[in-house]
Amino acid sequence: MKEIKLSLFGFGNVGKAVSRVLLEKGVFFREKYGVEFKVVSIADTSGVVWLPEGIDLREALIIRENFGKLSAWTNDYEVYNFTPDEAVREIDADVVIDVTNDRNAWRWHLAALREGKGVITSNKPPLAFHYAELTKEAERRDVPYLFEATVMAGTPVIGLLRENLLGDAVERIDAVLNATTTFILSRMEVGLNFEDALREAQALGIAERDPSGDILGIDAGYKATILHCVAFSPVTFDEVRVRGIAEVTPDEVRRARAKGKTVRLVATVERGEVTVEPKEVPLESPLAVGSHENAAVIKTDLLGELLIKGAGAGLKETASGVVSDIIKASLRL
Ligand SMILES: NC(=O)c1ccc[n+]([C@@H]2O[C@H](COP(=O)([O-])OP(=O)(O)OC[C@H]3O[C@@H](n4cnc5c(N)ncnc54)[C@H](OP(=O)(O)O)[C@@H]3O)[C@@H](O)[C@H]2O)c1
Repeated sequence: MKEIKLSLFGFGNVGKAVSRVLLEKGVFFREKYGVEFKVVSIADTSGVVWLPEGIDLREALIIRENFGKLSAWTNDYEVYNFTPDEAVREIDADVVIDVTNDRNAWRWHLAALREGKGVITSNKPPLAFHYAELTKEAERRDVPYLFEATVMAGTPVIGLLRENLLGDAVERIDAVLNATTTFILSRMEVGLNFEDALREAQALGIAERDPSGDILGIDAGYKATILHCVAFSPVTFDEVRVRGIAEVTPDEVRRARAKGKTVRLVATVERGEVTVEPKEVPLESPLAVGSHENAAVIKTDLLGELLIKGAGAGLKETASGVVSDIIKASLRL
């Protein structure tokens, strides 16, 4: 049995969902892959809980649910005030998992890679701004740097582009990558104005309290940037043309519908060019997705058009991508 030491950063929605999967499917992973995971540290912004013998995830989840922060945990465990940089250097782990929303996490991704640790993340800005630097460092150190859950949650579009289609040249990708905007546009189709549709999305927990990342197209822009990096060559988010859905009117949505079309926030990725903007798509198009889905149509020279469609958000679904990367990294180490 191979034992893999994991150092988890971020114990919010995704961090907890990943922990639950590790807890509930431990036997399955042991039997299927011959690996045993030991979570040696967990960090949130309140502190880092570190136990080289392995943390009881069940207890960690209870503490976080009841007290809202890991630093409340003082019984058997030491809580350290490490910065993430210090933590990735100090803590002996095989794989660092970043499921935080720390925009500057690329610095400690780099530090972890330099320490020879594998890095797995669902956090988009590090990739959208520092892809070249991070993937080069991972190559140089020959350690895994995996980020399936950054685009389309667990729907494996990154794996598809990075590990398959190796003899194909990708020509173009058209994709709907943000479920919140699809929800808002769908509600506008049935008569709501933008503000009411947004309020409904927020009330349902689909849109965040600060919805700007979604409605201004930034989230989809990050994802489209990452797709370009993987399918073509490294670019940064600064080079991407992004227009969100804030200016889409109910009239435009209704007019599209009358023509047998629907408005979606569409990312178009071609060599050297990435755009994200609201577009009319025919109702029979694979991009006319429902609000829980994402879809990408990948056009290549050999295969032609390939459609990948599935969950684009959700906790179990995002954990699927993160855990799949953890297993991939473990089998490589
Ligand atoms: N939710 C989804 O469906 C989904 C899907 C795909 C990708 N993602 C991405 O996955 C990441 C996590 O999402 P989420 O929904 O779990 O967010 P969240 O609930 O806000 O959790 C973020 C966690 O990161 C912690 N954190 C922030 N900066 C940190 C730092 N420097 N060191 C240690 N911990 C730090 C926060 O600590 P505190 O609790 O102390 O604030 C919190 O526990 C985000 O980057 C998000 O964009 C999410």
